[in-house]
Amino acid sequence: MTDARTLNTSPSITRLSDYEPYPYVIADVDLTFELHPTETRVTQRSQVRRITQGVTSIELNGKDLTRVSITIDGVEVSEDRLVEIDETLLIRQVPESFTLEIVTQLNPKANTALEGLYLSNGMFCTQCEAEGFRRITYYPDRPDVMSIFTTRIIADDQHPVLLSNGNPISDEVYPDGRRCVVWHDPFPKPCYLFALVGGHLAVQQDQFLTMSGRTIDLRIYVEHKDLDRVQYALESLKRAMAWDEQVYGREYDLDIFMIVAVSHFNMGAMENKGLNIFNSSCVLANPEAATDQAFQRIEAIVAHEYFHNWSGNRVTCRDWFQLSLKEGFTVFRDSEFSADINSRAVKRIQDVNFLRSAQFTEDGGPTAHPVQPSEYQEISNFYTLTIYEKGAEVVRMIHTLLGPVQFRQGSDLYFSRHDGQAVTINEFIAAMAEVSGRDFGQFMHWYQQPGTPRLQVDVEHDPQSGRLQILLTQKAPVIAKDNSHAPYVIPISYQVIDRESGQVLVPETLFELTEASASIEHQEVMGSPVVSVLRGLSAPVKLEMERSTHDLAALARFDDDGVNRWDAIQDLYIQAIQLLLADPEAGIQPQLADLVCGLIADPATIADPACLAEMLMLPQDNILWDVLKPADPQAILAARQSLRQHLADSGEAHWEDLYKAMKVDGPYEPEASAIGRRSLAITALGYLAKTRSVDEILSERFDKASNLTERFAAYRIARSDGSAGLSERLSRNFLAEAETDEVLDLWLSTEAMNESTATIDRLHELLSHERFTWTNPNRVRAVLGTFANRNVRAFHTPEGYRLLADAVLKLDAMNPQIASRLVMPLCQWARFTEQYQASMKAELRRMIAKDLSKDLYEIVSKSVD
Ligand code: TRP
Ligand code: ZN
Repeated sequence: MTDARTLNTSPSITRLSDYEPYPYVIADVDLTFELHPTETRVTQRSQVRRITQGVTSIELNGKDLTRVSITIDGVEVSEDRLVEIDETLLIRQVPESFTLEIVTQLNPKANTALEGLYLSNGMFCTQCEAEGFRRITYYPDRPDVMSIFTTRIIADDQHPVLLSNGNPISDEVYPDGRRCVVWHDPFPKPCYLFALVGGHLAVQQDQFLTMSGRTIDLRIYVEHKDLDRVQYALESLKRAMAWDEQVYGREYDLDIFMIVAVSHFNMGAMENKGLNIFNSSCVLANPEAATDQAFQRIEAIVAHEYFHNWSGNRVTCRDWFQLSLKEGFTVFRDSEFSADINSRAVKRIQDVNFLRSAQFTEDGGPTAHPVQPSEYQEISNFYTLTIYEKGAEVVRMIHTLLGPVQFRQGSDLYFSRHDGQAVTINEFIAAMAEVSGRDFGQFMHWYQQPGTPRLQVDVEHDPQSGRLQILLTQKAPVIAKDNSHAPYVIPISYQVIDRESGQVLVPETLFELTEASASIEHQEVMGSPVVSVLRGLSAPVKLEMERSTHDLAALARFDDDGVNRWDAIQDLYIQAIQLLLADPEAGIQPQLADLVCGLIADPATIADPACLAEMLMLPQDNILWDVLKPADPQAILAARQSLRQHLADSGEAHWEDLYKAMKVDGPYEPEASAIGRRSLAITALGYLAKTRSVDEILSERFDKASNLTERFAAYRIARSDGSAGLSERLSRNFLAEAETDEVLDLWLSTEAMNESTATIDRLHELLSHERFTWTNPNRVRAVLGTFANRNVRAFHTPEGYRLLADAVLKLDAMNPQIASRLVMPLCQWARFTEQYQASMKAELRRMIAKDLSKDLYEIVSKSVD
């Protein structure tokens, strides 16, 4: 047995209840980097002062470091005072106050894990969150140790751009030709926010005038070839800066704000103080090389990272159990920003869809955990949908309960009271409690209990008296252990409309459910009431409500809440698929096709193209698997396809008109209304392609469109429904014209997903494509992530599972974070029927018998016994 294996079978668990403050203060840290691809030298000089009596040794963290020297007040520390176990280095018998100097050596070129200091296309860059700083130097790698950093970077002339946090304070050329640049960050910060970049980079500059009249120097650094794709991110940044001033009263604090795009990155982006580092796919865009979706993603992520400057950096987390303090809040902030500058309804529909299909799945599976977890093995595994998306939903509920004015008072109090501190979720809640006078005791269950609670709604109406009774019952999440669940505070927004006319019978009302159940009564409700409940998804719960086809159709037609309108038609699709599965001969109820035809021919509905496009998209497999447990993914796929065909045929008379009506004239703008029109046009064209050959339209759009959104759509539709000749031609041409990595990834993912052509053999071809590389996470996600999450036909087979497991094992040796994310689809075996379960579990068992990284081991071991 190897050492790593021994460690993994008895994993070390970090617990919230074990938290103890760090016994030292490190006021200042001076770092010197002598950059070299294989032998970078790092010298750390820290001013350390003891604050806890009785402690005589100091604990630092380090990982994969070559130790060159350690001195205290200039004197070498002898080996017998050092104890290094796993990632902890203990120095014994240290004085009360001292200067610690540590020299380490690193090999950035060999770093394929992309944590710590690594090379991406020849550019030096860092990723320190959550625990990457320990791969740079020995240091207390925990967020509650906050210091003022000064960083000196020395490099040869191949790396003329040398960046770190804060402000540049000196720049000189040494006699030997090397350059030395010094940066100073006046704001104390934890080491996870440290960043360094060194490379041959191009820059685009701009300025922002803050609310107090300061001019901020804005810069986006990219590889030279990418300089024509930075403008949109720069505009987005300025919009985000202005929004945070207006909505939260938050002003930027340094004189310079920088963004750097790198090709190799494990996540979307990172909020390092003053120096955000981005996955290039989340910052680079121009009309020829990015889709509408990419533009919107870029705007949201630029805003997200910028917003962290306050929610995360100025006020940071005490420990990693508080991760959602910064992530949940910041996702809420960025989603409100997107809602304000685009369409609020569409943004909310997309967020709700994502939450339900992905976060609810996580919350019902083997890796379910509370928004504030109480323990973890590997922190990188806790950057989850629960921390981010459910965390944002919890903050949204606070916003709903308090209203915008009190919420703003609460956030002001939180920011001012805790500026410069590392705090817990409790401090955030305490500020909200203080301004509102509310007791958040029961509300905290949202942070502490895992799983998605269920809300049962029963409606009774007496047509004579007009008495309407709405019975609300909250039920524990399915995964809850007996008696372990306490009731939640559930904000329930509802409205009652008339089924025939759509007229509002009871206007929108907010009800707070705190008990296990409650009953709401309204008198003199005449007509045929239909209750629209959990409007805008006012709480992250699963609704259990008997709703007739008739009621759902009324909501889909008349509800003035975008989410519930969309939700009603989604529920009708689910019911139709359910019926098809039960009896394939039974067919589809004609009312559904009538409803869809009514919507696509109704000028009022077409007036909001983006919402209509969302309504015309069938529910994702993930959602269907949850409703139809235990699921047979191939049978469900077939049923979904026949529903799609049925809707296409039923609407035959309308698709072409709708497509034409949505044509966008004028130059390309990635702005909400044009995006909505394109989205509906593409949806209509997709349906049309199921009723007749549209080769001509596709071919024309592919060759003539001014933007990638339409070209990509033409290629995608041709690939699934065009003639074989056109499908091949567009695939070849799309690849041939894919100059950027981002467009290449669109091609790779489309090829990996395509249900008619993406066989296992085709997947192997993609994996050995000359432009595919295992060391770039974006390529891996494009091929393997898309395959496992989007290609039901090929993935849900014994060969598909094997392909993924083999890839995960291969990746685990290079990049554990990516491996443990990629394995997730296999961990969901419990949702499927016996036959699928057996093959999935066999792969997990095969994997667990190997020598796995801590990351992958935690996920696989939680998923299989
Ligand atoms: N804090 C980053 C965010 O904005 C998340 C992140 C970026 C991250 N890179 C990472 C987390 C690497 C873990 C590992 O959401
Ligand atoms: Zn974040």
